[in-house]
Amino acid sequence: MTSTFQTPVGPAENLQMKLVQAQKLPGVGPLVRMVLKLRGVQIPPHTFTQRPHLPHVGPIVVHEKTRFGKNVTLFHNVTIGRGNVWEEPHPDFEGFQINDHAVLCAGAVIVGTKGTVTVGEGTVVGANAVLTQSTGDWEVWAGSPARKVGERSRPVS
Ligand SMILES: CC(C)(COP(=O)(O)OP(=O)(O)OC[C@H]1O[C@@H](n2cnc3c(N)ncnc32)[C@H](O)[C@@H]1OP(=O)(O)O)[C@@H](O)C(=O)NCCC(=O)NCCS
Repeated sequence: MTSTFQTPVGPAENLQMKLVQAQKLPGVGPLVRMVLKLRGVQIPPHTFTQRPHLPHVGPIVVHEKTRFGKNVTLFHNVTIGRGNVWEEPHPDFEGFQINDHAVLCAGAVIVGTKGTVTVGEGTVVGANAVLTQSTGDWEVWAGSPARKVGERSRPVS
């Protein structure tokens, strides 16, 4: 597994990714954002400079206080959100940093309550994991609550 591999996508997935990017367009951007939201895809446009790679069409919910690095992959049913949703945000809650080449697998949930939860560069968060803490770089995390189950080989530069 290298950092440059991306799961191939078809026309529908390509269109979904183009719509995610189109949220940044002046004028039509907010309308596109609403259409995506109605389809269950909430990736606020300010959260990315390079839009994430989305291998499948399906719901994705990303907290407004998220920042994505480059070449991040989000599979379907990923959720990035606040943990203590039944109360006001903690004053120290800062959000989420998803670093370059991270892969959030199908159904991965990233939750944060205080500070920033960071998914390290190149780190994989496995299917249906519930990640409640920051990870290191080039690691593999799985389970609920997620624990480190392995490491990825760093790409050869
Ligand atoms: C988490 C994941 C990346 C780990 O893959 P891996 O590095 O090959 O790891 P392994 O299969 O060797 O498993 C390592 C350990 O994690 C556990 N594990 C693996 N995936 C898990 C998961 N999703 N949830 C909980 N535990 C998991 C294994 O049981 C094993 O535990 P053990 O060490 O106690 O025996 C992978 O299993 C996964 O979840 N991939 C999801 C891919 C996806 O979303 N596909 C959808 C495409 S449409």
